[in-house]
Amino acid sequence: LYPTADLASKAVAQEIADLIVSHQRTGDWTVLGLATGSSPKKVYAELIRLHREEGLSFRRVITFNLDEYYPIQPDALQSYHRFMHEHLFDHVDISPENIHIPTGTLPADDLKAYCADYEQKIQDVGGLDFQLLGIGRNGHIGFNEPGSHQQSTTRLITLDFLTRADAAAEFGGLAQVPKRAITMGIRTILAAKRIVLLAWGEHKATILQRAVEGPVSELLPASYLQTHPNATIIVDEAGASELT
Ligand code: F6R
Repeated sequence: LYPTADLASKAVAQEIADLIVSHQRTGDWTVLGLATGSSPKKVYAELIRLHREEGLSFRRVITFNLDEYYPIQPDALQSYHRFMHEHLFDHVDISPENIHIPTGTLPADDLKAYCADYEQKIQDVGGLDFQLLGIGRNGHIGFNEPGSHQQSTTRLITLDFLTRADAAAEFGGLAQVPKRAITMGIRTILAAKRIVLLAWGEHKATILQRAVEGPVSELLPASYLQTHPNATIIVDEAGASELT
C-alpha cells in the first residue's frame, strides 16, 4: 500500500530496474511480461527516466506483452503495439527483436499455431522473470475474462461486455471495440517467477477486495494470484479502501 499511485509506480519501476541490473551483472537476460492500460503508465514513465538519467539499459531485456485486441492494425490508435511503443519502447534501448506483442493481424486460421509459438518463445528464454498486471473491473488479468481456466495458455478469447464497455470511449463507441483479443493464459501468467498487480483508484476497490479476500474462483481470474508464491498487489489509498 502506497499513499499515491505516483510513489507506488516509482517503487515498482525500481524493482524492475534492480532486477535488470542484477541479471546484467551475471550476464543474464531479464524477461519481462508487460501490461498496457492506464495502470502501468507511470511505471513506464519512471523506467524511461531511469534509462535517460541513471543509465538503466534494456539491451539485455526481452519482453512479452499480455494481450492485444483482435483484429487490430498495429498502428491503430487503440492498439497495444502502439501503446507500448509510445509509452516505453521508443524511449529506451531495447532491441526490436526482443519485443513480443500478440498479433492483431494474422488470419484467424493461423492463430492456434501462432499462440502455441508465443508460449514456446516464453519457454525458450527461460520463462517470465517478472510479470506486471492490471485488473479489469470484472476481475480479468490480461484478457482472461471470468470463466478462464487455471490451465489456460495464450489463445484467442471473446471479450466481456464490461471490458468492451470500458474501452468504448477510446474506440469512439462500443460498436468499434473489437469483439475478440489474444491473451496470455492464466497458466502463462502464474508461471512467472514474480508477479506485481497494480490497482489505482476507487473504481478498482470493490473488485480488488473480492480478488484478494474472496475465494479463488475462475469467476474472478485475479483471485488465482492468491495461489502464487511471489505475487504482490500494489495499491494506492483509494484502491485499498474496501480491504479489511
Ligand atoms: C492490459 C490488460 C488488462 C488491463 C486491465 C486494467 O494489457 O491486460 O488486463 O490491465 O483491463 O486496465 P486499466 O489499467 O486501464 O484500468
